[in-house]
Amino acid sequence: MEVHRALRVVVSFIFLIIRSALAQQLPLSSGIERSALLDLRSSLGITAKNWPIKSDPCSSWTGIECRNGSVIGINVSGFRGTRGGGLNRRFAVDALANLTLLASFNSSGFALPGSIPDWFGQRLSALQVLDLRSCSVIGPIPPSIGNLTGLNSLYLSGNSLTGIIPSALGQLSGLSVLDVSRNLLTGSVPDTFSSLGNLTQLDLSSNYLSGSIPPGLGDLSNLQFLNLSNNSLAAYIPNEVGNLSQLIELDLSSNSLSGSLPVDLGGLRNLQFVVLSGNKFDGALPEMLWAMPKLQFLDVSGNNFAGVLPNFSSNANVSEALFNLSNNLFYGDLVSLPGKFRLIDLSGNYLQGMVPNDTQNNANVTGNCLQTVQNQRSLEDCRLFYAERGLTFDNFGYPDSVQPPSPGTASESNKRLIFILAGVSGGLRAF
Ligand SMILES: *[C@@H]1O[C@H](CO)[C@@H](O)[C@H](O)[C@H]1NC(C)=O
Ligand SMILES: *[C@@H]1O[C@H](CO)[C@@H](O)[C@H](O)[C@H]1NC(C)=O
Ligand SMILES: *[C@@H]1O[C@H](CO)[C@@H](O)[C@H](O)[C@H]1NC(C)=O
Ligand SMILES: *[C@@H]1O[C@H](CO)[C@@H](O)[C@H](O)[C@H]1NC(C)=O
Ligand SMILES: *[C@@H]1O[C@H](CO)[C@@H](O)[C@H](O)[C@H]1NC(C)=O
Ligand SMILES: *[C@@H]1O[C@H](CO)[C@@H](O)[C@H](O)[C@H]1NC(C)=O
Ligand SMILES: *[C@@H]1O[C@H](CO)[C@@H](O)[C@H](O)[C@H]1NC(C)=O
Ligand SMILES: *[C@@H]1O[C@H](CO)[C@@H](O)[C@H](O)[C@H]1NC(C)=O
Ligand SMILES: *[C@@H]1O[C@H](CO)[C@@H](O)[C@H](O)[C@H]1NC(C)=O
Ligand SMILES: *[C@@H]1O[C@H](CO)[C@@H](O)[C@H](O)[C@H]1NC(C)=O
Ligand SMILES: *[C@@H]1O[C@H](CO)[C@@H](O)[C@H](O)[C@H]1NC(C)=O
Ligand SMILES: *[C@@H]1O[C@H](CO)[C@@H](O)[C@H](O)[C@H]1NC(C)=O
Repeated sequence: MEVHRALRVVVSFIFLIIRSALAQQLPLSSGIERSALLDLRSSLGITAKNWPIKSDPCSSWTGIECRNGSVIGINVSGFRGTRGGGLNRRFAVDALANLTLLASFNSSGFALPGSIPDWFGQRLSALQVLDLRSCSVIGPIPPSIGNLTGLNSLYLSGNSLTGIIPSALGQLSGLSVLDVSRNLLTGSVPDTFSSLGNLTQLDLSSNYLSGSIPPGLGDLSNLQFLNLSNNSLAAYIPNEVGNLSQLIELDLSSNSLSGSLPVDLGGLRNLQFVVLSGNKFDGALPEMLWAMPKLQFLDVSGNNFAGVLPNFSSNANVSEALFNLSNNLFYGDLVSLPGKFRLIDLSGNYLQGMVPNDTQNNANVTGNCLQTVQNQRSLEDCRLFYAERGLTFDNFGYPDSVQPPSPGTASESNKRLIFILAGVSGGLRAF
């Protein structure tokens, strides 16, 4: 009885596979679609090797995907055009308008110099995936793209797109990936992006975006990757960013962001990779940054962060992590850094005192105010910094009245420490 039933299940399963295989292999049924493909073939200059003119596109053209005899996917990524087509190729894809079931168009790396036609948003209503990465596309992103509500992935990076990011993109509520990085886009990040509730990846990096980070981005509860680096964004990080509980990678580097980090950032329990370098942040680093259980990489270099370092030993969570705190205004004693970190770069701050004996080859302390190690700041530099803030400077361990020797050189007895520190990030240097 059981065997019988199992057999029936297997047979109907095989039947299903055969049926769907047959559906895949149905030849192109529509004459309109066939002539659309032929138009596309000549306007894009696609070679006979990839799209042999006499055979059925569904079964023998590279990169054409059909279902039930209709074209649902086109992938010309990686194609080389014919010489003629290549010479005067432009964004000549008008024929796509007649492929009404087209769900995916991938042209990444295949040059389509020209701009994205406005009718894309009106005619390609079945589109789910549009990949135009590095296609030499110019001009604006047409607002009509906001009408493609079935869109799931939109990749437009590495082109020369100009103008603003249309706020109509906020209508793409099913969007999971939005990547418009490495273009020439201006204006601000649209407030409407708060409606992109299904977004997992948002990459707006390397454009000329200005204004502030909209608080509404905090509503993107599925966001895992946020890259806004290398723009001209200003003002502070809104507290709401601390609501992005699924966030794994955050890159806000190379902007003009300022203020202190919101304490709520500590709530981002999944963060692994955080880059905030090259901004104007100040204030202390919130201690809960160190408590993030999965943090692997933190780069806050090149800001105005200040304060004493936290007691790293009291926090068991950060281990094997790579931390870059260089070129800030951290001061006070260098805390114990037992070989917990893979590497911690503390160079270019104002730390003073002795280097703890348990410091391993994993710390760069160049350019501070530390005793008995080489390549520190000048006495005047250190004195001034501490005096300006009303803090006590230890005068490189000498009594106040005594002029310490230049911190650039070190005494014999301290060679051991120097030797340890010189081995930072591998490769012991000869003295
Ligand atoms: C397959 O295409 C035929 C003719 O174009 C149509 O009649 C039929 O409904 C389609 N079947 C499916 C499952 O889409
Ligand atoms: C487009 O094709 C390229 C291969 O050339 C592939 O790497 C990329 O993932 C494809 N894009 C999408 C959205 O699948
Ligand atoms: C697209 O086409 C390229 C070149 O034929 C191929 O390498 C790539 O795997 C294809 N990508 C997809 C997602 O089908
Ligand atoms: C779409 O197909 C119709 C009928 O063949 C044709 O008249 C029209 O020019 C085509 N449109 C485009 C944009 O190619
Ligand atoms: C969306 O489509 C409708 C109808 O085709 C059109 O009126 C409207 O202008 C389109 N929206 C955009 C932003 O293009
Ligand atoms: C968002 O994603 C979920 C899960 O993948 C899906 O069920 C839902 O339909 C998506 N929303 C939209 C508007 O596409
Ligand atoms: C963010 O984008 C820039 C280029 O636009 C890239 O260099 C950087 O690696 C990206 N950050 C992450 C975390 O991927
Ligand atoms: C930053 O963006 C500019 C153009 O906006 C680009 O030339 C440069 O390569 C980008 N830098 C990085 C590190 O991605
Ligand atoms: C988002 O963050 C704000 C400010 O930090 C907070 O007031 C609000 O309750 C948060 N919303 C959700 C849904 O967690
Ligand atoms: C740092 O924390 C460790 C472990 O909790 C503790 O033993 C040590 O005394 C603390 N050091 C300072 C300077 O507070
Ligand atoms: C480091 O060890 C030396 C002796 O080996 C000791 O004199 C010194 O006080 C120690 N320094 C610290 C900061 O523990
Ligand atoms: C330590 O930091 C200084 C200043 O940033 C840098 O020049 C040096 O290369 C770094 N040393 C190592 C070993 O990384």
